[in-house]
Amino acid sequence: MSERIKRVGVLTGGGDCPGLNAVIRAVTTSLIQHDGIEVFGFEDGFAGLIEKRGRLLDWDAVSGILQQGGTILGTSNKADPFHHKIEKNKKPAWVDFSEQTIDNARDLGVDVLVCIGGDGTMTIAQKLMNKGLPIIGVPKTIDNDLFGTDVTFGYDTAVSIAADAIDRIHTTAQSHHRVMLVETMGRYAGWLTLGAGLAGGADVILIPEIEYNLDVIAERVKERSRKGRRFSIIAVSEGAKPKGGELTVQRVVEDSPDKLRLGGVSMKLCSQIEDITGLESRATILGHLQRGGTPTAFDRILGTRYGVAAAEMVRDGRFGYMAALRGNEVVAVSIDEIGGKTRTIPPDDQLIRAALATGVSFGD
Ligand code: F6P
Repeated sequence: MSERIKRVGVLTGGGDCPGLNAVIRAVTTSLIQHDGIEVFGFEDGFAGLIEKRGRLLDWDAVSGILQQGGTILGTSNKADPFHHKIEKNKKPAWVDFSEQTIDNARDLGVDVLVCIGGDGTMTIAQKLMNKGLPIIGVPKTIDNDLFGTDVTFGYDTAVSIAADAIDRIHTTAQSHHRVMLVETMGRYAGWLTLGAGLAGGADVILIPEIEYNLDVIAERVKERSRKGRRFSIIAVSEGAKPKGGELTVQRVVEDSPDKLRLGGVSMKLCSQIEDITGLESRATILGHLQRGGTPTAFDRILGTRYGVAAAEMVRDGRFGYMAALRGNEVVAVSIDEIGGKTRTIPPDDQLIRAALATGVSFGD
Protein backbone atom coordinates (compact mmCIF):
# COMPACT_ATOMS: atom_id res chain seq x y z
CA MET A 1 0.00 0.00 0.00
CA SER A 2 2.77 2.44 0.93
CA GLU A 3 4.19 2.31 -2.66
CA ARG A 4 0.99 3.88 -3.93
CA ILE A 5 0.98 6.76 -1.47
CA LYS A 6 2.56 9.83 -2.98
CA ARG A 7 0.99 12.65 -1.06
CA VAL A 8 -0.41 12.93 2.45
CA GLY A 9 -2.69 15.77 3.53
CA VAL A 10 -2.53 17.21 7.03
CA LEU A 11 -4.91 19.56 8.80
CA THR A 12 -5.46 20.94 12.30
CA GLY A 13 -9.13 21.22 13.33
CA GLY A 14 -11.05 22.70 16.28
CA GLY A 15 -9.59 25.07 18.86
CA ASP A 16 -5.83 25.53 18.64
CA CYS A 17 -3.54 24.23 21.34
CA PRO A 18 0.17 24.18 22.14
CA GLY A 19 1.97 21.27 20.46
CA LEU A 20 0.14 21.30 17.12
CA ASN A 21 3.26 22.45 15.33
CA ALA A 22 5.28 19.64 16.89
CA VAL A 23 2.90 17.14 15.25
CA ILE A 24 2.93 18.91 11.87
CA ARG A 25 6.72 18.97 11.99
CA ALA A 26 7.04 15.30 12.95
CA VAL A 27 4.57 14.06 10.31
CA THR A 28 6.25 16.14 7.61
CA THR A 29 9.88 15.41 8.41
CA SER A 30 9.27 11.65 8.90
CA LEU A 31 7.39 11.28 5.62
CA ILE A 32 9.51 13.45 3.34
CA GLN A 33 12.78 12.22 4.79
CA HIS A 34 12.22 8.49 5.01
CA ASP A 35 9.54 7.76 2.46
CA GLY A 36 9.81 10.52 -0.12
CA ILE A 37 6.11 11.23 0.35
CA GLU A 38 4.89 14.78 -0.20
CA VAL A 39 2.97 16.49 2.57
CA PHE A 40 0.21 18.95 1.74
CA GLY A 41 -1.00 21.18 4.58
CA PHE A 42 -4.64 22.26 4.38
CA GLU A 43 -5.20 25.73 5.81
CA ASP A 44 -7.74 26.52 8.52
CA GLY A 45 -8.79 22.95 9.23
CA PHE A 46 -11.65 21.49 7.21
CA ALA A 47 -12.20 24.94 5.64
CA GLY A 48 -9.03 24.35 3.60
CA LEU A 49 -10.29 20.97 2.43
CA ILE A 50 -13.70 22.40 1.49
CA GLU A 51 -12.14 25.34 -0.35
CA LYS A 52 -9.15 23.42 -1.78
CA ARG A 53 -6.82 25.75 0.05
CA GLY A 54 -3.37 24.79 1.30
CA ARG A 55 0.32 24.44 0.51
CA LEU A 56 3.04 21.85 0.19
CA LEU A 57 5.14 21.52 3.33
CA ASP A 58 8.85 20.97 2.91
CA TRP A 59 11.70 20.86 5.39
CA ASP A 60 12.03 24.66 5.47
CA ALA A 61 8.30 25.12 6.09
CA VAL A 62 8.45 23.13 9.33
CA SER A 63 11.87 24.23 10.49
CA GLY A 64 11.92 26.19 13.76
CA ILE A 65 8.24 25.59 14.62
CA LEU A 66 8.66 23.03 17.42
CA GLN A 67 8.53 25.60 20.19
CA GLN A 68 5.83 27.78 18.59
CA GLY A 69 2.31 27.79 20.01
CA GLY A 70 -0.80 27.70 17.80
CA THR A 71 -0.68 26.09 14.37
CA ILE A 72 1.22 27.26 11.29
CA LEU A 73 -1.67 25.90 9.20
CA GLY A 74 -4.45 27.82 10.95
CA THR A 75 -7.59 26.12 12.24
CA SER A 76 -11.35 26.45 12.41
CA ASN A 77 -13.90 25.12 14.88
CA LYS A 78 -16.79 25.90 12.54
CA ALA A 79 -15.90 24.26 9.20
CA ASP A 80 -17.70 20.94 8.67
CA PRO A 81 -17.94 19.32 5.19
CA PHE A 82 -21.19 17.62 6.26
CA HIS A 83 -22.76 20.88 7.40
CA HIS A 84 -21.30 23.53 5.13
CA LYS A 85 -22.62 27.05 5.23
CA ILE A 86 -23.50 28.64 1.88
CA GLU A 87 -25.59 31.60 0.80
CA LYS A 88 -28.87 30.76 -0.92
CA ASN A 89 -31.24 33.53 -2.06
CA LYS A 90 -29.16 35.93 0.05
CA LYS A 91 -29.80 33.83 3.14
CA PRO A 92 -27.49 31.37 4.92
CA ALA A 93 -28.18 27.71 4.19
CA TRP A 94 -26.36 24.51 5.17
CA VAL A 95 -25.49 21.72 2.72
CA ASP A 96 -23.71 18.38 2.75
CA PHE A 97 -20.48 19.16 0.89
CA SER A 98 -18.67 15.96 1.80
CA GLU A 99 -18.58 14.39 -1.71
CA GLN A 100 -17.04 17.54 -3.20
CA THR A 101 -14.62 17.72 -0.27
CA ILE A 102 -13.38 14.21 -0.91
CA ASP A 103 -13.08 15.04 -4.64
CA ASN A 104 -11.01 18.08 -3.67
CA ALA A 105 -8.58 15.87 -1.76
CA ARG A 106 -8.32 13.51 -4.75
CA ASP A 107 -7.85 16.40 -7.22
CA LEU A 108 -4.96 17.61 -5.11
CA GLY A 109 -3.43 14.12 -5.21
CA VAL A 110 -3.96 13.55 -1.49
CA ASP A 111 -4.10 9.80 -0.81
CA VAL A 112 -4.42 9.93 2.98
CA LEU A 113 -5.49 12.69 5.34
CA VAL A 114 -3.94 13.15 8.80
CA CYS A 115 -6.48 14.97 10.97
CA ILE A 116 -5.06 16.55 14.13
CA GLY A 117 -7.93 17.50 16.41
CA GLY A 118 -10.33 16.80 19.24
CA ASP A 119 -13.72 15.10 19.40
CA GLY A 120 -15.37 17.33 16.75
CA THR A 121 -12.50 16.76 14.30
CA MET A 122 -12.49 12.98 14.92
CA THR A 123 -16.26 12.79 14.38
CA ILE A 124 -15.92 14.50 10.99
CA ALA A 125 -12.83 12.39 10.18
CA GLN A 126 -14.76 9.20 10.94
CA LYS A 127 -17.58 10.24 8.60
CA LEU A 128 -15.15 11.13 5.77
CA MET A 129 -13.46 7.77 6.28
CA ASN A 130 -16.78 5.98 5.99
CA LYS A 131 -17.24 7.75 2.65
CA GLY A 132 -13.93 6.41 1.37
CA LEU A 133 -11.20 8.90 2.32
CA PRO A 134 -8.34 7.15 4.17
CA ILE A 135 -7.83 8.94 7.50
CA ILE A 136 -5.33 8.90 10.36
CA GLY A 137 -6.12 10.79 13.57
CA VAL A 138 -3.93 12.58 16.12
CA PRO A 139 -5.55 13.64 19.42
CA LYS A 140 -5.22 17.25 20.57
CA THR A 141 -7.04 19.40 23.10
CA ILE A 142 -6.25 21.28 26.26
CA ASP A 143 -9.45 19.71 27.68
CA ASN A 144 -7.92 16.19 27.73
CA ASP A 145 -11.43 14.86 27.13
CA LEU A 146 -10.84 12.77 24.02
CA PHE A 147 -11.97 9.18 24.22
CA GLY A 148 -9.43 6.44 23.46
CA THR A 149 -6.27 8.11 24.76
CA ASP A 150 -4.96 8.65 28.29
CA VAL A 151 -3.58 12.06 27.38
CA THR A 152 -4.00 14.58 24.57
CA PHE A 153 -1.12 16.93 23.80
CA GLY A 154 -1.81 20.52 24.84
CA TYR A 155 -3.19 19.46 28.20
CA ASP A 156 0.14 19.57 30.00
CA THR A 157 0.85 23.12 28.80
CA ALA A 158 -2.63 24.35 29.76
CA VAL A 159 -2.35 22.76 33.22
CA SER A 160 1.04 24.43 33.72
CA ILE A 161 -0.32 27.84 32.69
CA ALA A 162 -3.37 27.49 34.96
CA ALA A 163 -1.27 26.21 37.88
CA ASP A 164 1.09 29.15 37.46
CA ALA A 165 -1.92 31.50 37.50
CA ILE A 166 -3.16 29.90 40.74
CA ASP A 167 0.31 30.38 42.27
CA ARG A 168 0.15 34.07 41.41
CA ILE A 169 -3.40 34.39 42.73
CA HIS A 170 -2.21 32.76 45.98
CA THR A 171 0.11 35.63 46.93
CA THR A 172 -2.50 38.32 46.38
CA ALA A 173 -5.15 36.19 48.14
CA GLN A 174 -2.86 35.86 51.16
CA SER A 175 -2.04 39.56 51.23
CA HIS A 176 -5.67 40.73 51.08
CA HIS A 177 -7.24 37.84 53.02
CA ARG A 178 -9.66 37.19 50.20
CA VAL A 179 -11.51 34.30 48.64
CA MET A 180 -10.11 34.01 45.12
CA LEU A 181 -11.80 32.02 42.37
CA VAL A 182 -9.84 30.97 39.29
CA GLU A 183 -11.93 29.77 36.35
CA THR A 184 -10.38 27.37 33.86
CA MET A 185 -11.57 26.02 30.50
CA GLY A 186 -12.21 22.35 29.78
CA ARG A 187 -15.78 22.35 28.51
CA TYR A 188 -17.72 19.38 29.96
CA ALA A 189 -14.70 17.66 31.56
CA GLY A 190 -12.83 18.73 34.67
CA TRP A 191 -9.33 17.41 33.84
CA LEU A 192 -7.80 20.84 33.37
CA THR A 193 -9.28 22.26 36.57
CA LEU A 194 -8.45 19.19 38.61
CA GLY A 195 -4.85 19.11 37.34
CA ALA A 196 -4.31 22.85 37.87
CA GLY A 197 -6.15 22.84 41.21
CA LEU A 198 -4.01 19.99 42.52
CA ALA A 199 -0.76 21.50 41.25
CA GLY A 200 -1.69 24.95 42.58
CA GLY A 201 -2.90 23.72 45.98
CA ALA A 202 -6.51 24.92 45.60
CA ASP A 203 -8.71 24.48 48.68
CA VAL A 204 -11.86 23.84 46.68
CA ILE A 205 -12.04 22.36 43.17
CA LEU A 206 -15.31 22.54 41.25
CA ILE A 207 -15.63 20.32 38.17
CA PRO A 208 -18.51 19.43 35.82
CA GLU A 209 -18.50 15.80 36.96
CA ILE A 210 -19.41 16.75 40.56
CA GLU A 211 -22.29 19.20 40.98
CA TYR A 212 -21.62 21.68 43.76
CA ASN A 213 -23.63 22.86 46.74
CA LEU A 214 -23.06 26.54 47.45
CA ASP A 215 -23.53 26.13 51.20
CA VAL A 216 -20.84 23.44 51.34
CA ILE A 217 -18.36 25.72 49.55
CA ALA A 218 -19.23 28.64 51.85
CA GLU A 219 -18.83 26.45 54.93
CA ARG A 220 -15.38 25.28 53.79
CA VAL A 221 -14.26 28.87 53.27
CA LYS A 222 -15.64 29.96 56.68
CA GLU A 223 -14.04 26.97 58.37
CA ARG A 224 -10.65 27.96 56.93
CA SER A 225 -11.22 31.50 58.16
CA ARG A 226 -12.14 30.27 61.66
CA LYS A 227 -8.90 28.27 61.76
CA GLY A 228 -6.92 31.39 60.99
CA ARG A 229 -6.38 30.63 57.30
CA ARG A 230 -7.55 33.99 56.14
CA PHE A 231 -7.74 33.26 52.41
CA SER A 232 -9.10 30.53 50.18
CA ILE A 233 -8.43 29.49 46.60
CA ILE A 234 -11.23 27.96 44.55
CA ALA A 235 -10.43 26.43 41.15
CA VAL A 236 -13.61 26.41 39.07
CA SER A 237 -14.20 24.67 35.80
CA GLU A 238 -16.17 26.66 33.20
CA GLY A 239 -18.50 23.63 33.03
CA ALA A 240 -19.15 23.47 36.80
CA LYS A 241 -22.78 23.75 37.82
CA PRO A 242 -24.82 23.70 41.04
CA LYS A 243 -26.72 20.59 42.08
CA GLY A 244 -29.73 20.32 39.79
CA GLY A 245 -28.77 23.66 38.17
CA GLU A 246 -27.70 24.88 34.76
CA LEU A 247 -24.40 25.44 32.97
CA THR A 248 -23.26 29.05 32.61
CA VAL A 249 -23.27 29.80 28.89
CA GLN A 250 -21.23 32.79 27.74
CA ARG A 251 -22.36 32.79 24.12
CA VAL A 252 -24.02 30.66 21.46
CA VAL A 253 -22.08 30.23 18.21
CA GLU A 254 -24.79 29.15 15.79
CA ASP A 255 -22.57 27.86 12.98
CA SER A 256 -20.30 25.78 15.21
CA PRO A 257 -20.83 22.00 15.69
CA ASP A 258 -20.81 22.51 19.48
CA LYS A 259 -22.72 25.77 19.69
CA LEU A 260 -22.28 26.52 23.39
CA ARG A 261 -19.33 28.51 24.69
CA LEU A 262 -19.14 28.25 28.46
CA GLY A 263 -17.78 30.86 30.85
CA GLY A 264 -18.64 33.09 33.76
CA VAL A 265 -19.68 30.63 36.47
CA SER A 266 -16.89 31.97 38.72
CA MET A 267 -18.32 35.50 38.56
CA LYS A 268 -21.71 34.28 39.79
CA LEU A 269 -20.11 32.17 42.50
CA CYS A 270 -17.90 35.03 43.61
CA SER A 271 -20.79 37.28 44.60
CA GLN A 272 -22.78 34.37 46.07
CA ILE A 273 -19.85 33.35 48.29
CA GLU A 274 -19.21 36.94 49.35
CA ASP A 275 -22.90 37.37 50.27
CA ILE A 276 -23.04 34.17 52.34
CA THR A 277 -19.65 34.40 54.07
CA GLY A 278 -19.14 38.15 54.30
CA LEU A 279 -15.57 37.54 53.07
CA GLU A 280 -14.28 39.71 50.27
CA SER A 281 -14.01 37.68 47.06
CA ARG A 282 -12.64 38.09 43.54
CA ALA A 283 -12.82 35.96 40.38
CA THR A 284 -10.34 35.59 37.51
CA ILE A 285 -11.30 33.89 34.25
CA LEU A 286 -8.17 32.52 32.57
CA GLY A 287 -9.85 31.97 29.18
CA HIS A 288 -7.76 31.64 26.05
CA LEU A 289 -4.52 32.35 27.90
CA GLN A 290 -4.57 28.62 28.64
CA ARG A 291 -4.35 27.77 24.94
CA GLY A 292 -1.66 30.23 23.97
CA GLY A 293 2.10 30.34 23.88
CA THR A 294 4.96 27.91 23.98
CA PRO A 295 4.23 24.20 24.54
CA THR A 296 5.88 22.48 27.48
CA ALA A 297 8.65 19.96 26.80
CA PHE A 298 6.13 17.19 27.60
CA ASP A 299 3.74 18.41 24.89
CA ARG A 300 6.54 18.85 22.35
CA ILE A 301 7.67 15.28 22.99
CA LEU A 302 4.15 13.84 22.98
CA GLY A 303 3.26 15.79 19.80
CA THR A 304 6.42 14.50 18.14
CA ARG A 305 5.66 10.90 19.18
CA TYR A 306 2.10 11.19 17.87
CA GLY A 307 3.32 12.70 14.57
CA VAL A 308 5.89 9.96 14.09
CA ALA A 309 3.23 7.33 14.91
CA ALA A 310 0.90 8.86 12.30
CA ALA A 311 3.70 8.71 9.71
CA GLU A 312 4.27 5.05 10.62
CA MET A 313 0.57 4.35 10.10
CA VAL A 314 0.85 5.92 6.63
CA ARG A 315 3.84 3.69 5.90
CA ASP A 316 2.00 0.59 7.15
CA GLY A 317 -1.21 1.46 5.26
CA ARG A 318 -3.02 1.47 8.60
CA PHE A 319 -5.95 3.81 8.05
CA GLY A 320 -8.95 4.58 10.24
CA TYR A 321 -6.80 4.74 13.37
CA MET A 322 -5.81 7.46 15.80
CA ALA A 323 -2.47 7.64 17.60
CA ALA A 324 -3.14 7.36 21.34
CA LEU A 325 -1.20 7.18 24.57
CA ARG A 326 -1.97 4.14 26.72
CA GLY A 327 0.25 4.09 29.76
CA ASN A 328 3.66 4.99 28.37
CA GLU A 329 3.10 3.53 24.92
CA VAL A 330 1.84 5.29 21.81
CA VAL A 331 -0.60 2.86 20.17
CA ALA A 332 -3.18 2.96 17.36
CA VAL A 333 -6.89 2.91 18.29
CA SER A 334 -9.76 2.65 15.85
CA ILE A 335 -11.36 6.04 15.08
CA ASP A 336 -14.72 4.24 15.10
CA GLU A 337 -14.34 3.85 18.88
CA ILE A 338 -13.77 7.55 19.45
CA GLY A 339 -16.13 9.86 17.55
CA GLY A 340 -18.90 11.57 19.51
CA LYS A 341 -17.75 10.45 22.97
CA THR A 342 -16.40 12.62 25.78
CA ARG A 343 -13.89 11.31 28.32
CA THR A 344 -14.94 12.78 31.64
CA ILE A 345 -13.34 12.09 35.04
CA PRO A 346 -14.55 8.82 36.60
CA PRO A 347 -15.78 9.31 40.23
CA ASP A 348 -13.07 6.99 41.59
CA ASP A 349 -10.23 8.46 39.54
CA GLN A 350 -6.85 8.54 41.31
CA LEU A 351 -6.65 12.32 40.95
CA ILE A 352 -9.99 12.72 42.73
CA ARG A 353 -8.83 10.37 45.48
CA ALA A 354 -5.53 12.27 45.80
CA ALA A 355 -7.38 15.57 46.09
CA LEU A 356 -9.77 14.23 48.74
CA ALA A 357 -6.93 12.63 50.69
CA THR A 358 -5.12 15.98 50.84
CA GLY A 359 -8.16 17.85 52.13
CA VAL A 360 -9.57 19.36 48.96
CA SER A 361 -13.33 19.94 48.86
CA PHE A 362 -15.30 19.33 45.67
CA GLY A 363 -18.14 21.39 47.09
CA ASP A 364 -20.55 18.44 47.15
O1 F6P B 1 -11.91 22.75 23.47
C1 F6P B 1 -10.97 23.71 23.79
C2 F6P B 1 -11.63 24.94 24.38
O2 F6P B 1 -10.60 25.85 24.71
C3 F6P B 1 -12.53 24.69 25.57
O3 F6P B 1 -11.83 24.46 26.76
C4 F6P B 1 -13.37 25.93 25.56
O4 F6P B 1 -14.61 25.69 26.17
C5 F6P B 1 -13.53 26.22 24.09
O5 F6P B 1 -12.47 25.57 23.42
C6 F6P B 1 -13.51 27.69 23.72
O6 F6P B 1 -13.81 27.81 22.38
P1 F6P B 1 -13.59 29.14 21.56
O7 F6P B 1 -12.14 29.23 21.19
O8 F6P B 1 -14.47 28.99 20.36
O9 F6P B 1 -14.00 30.30 22.42
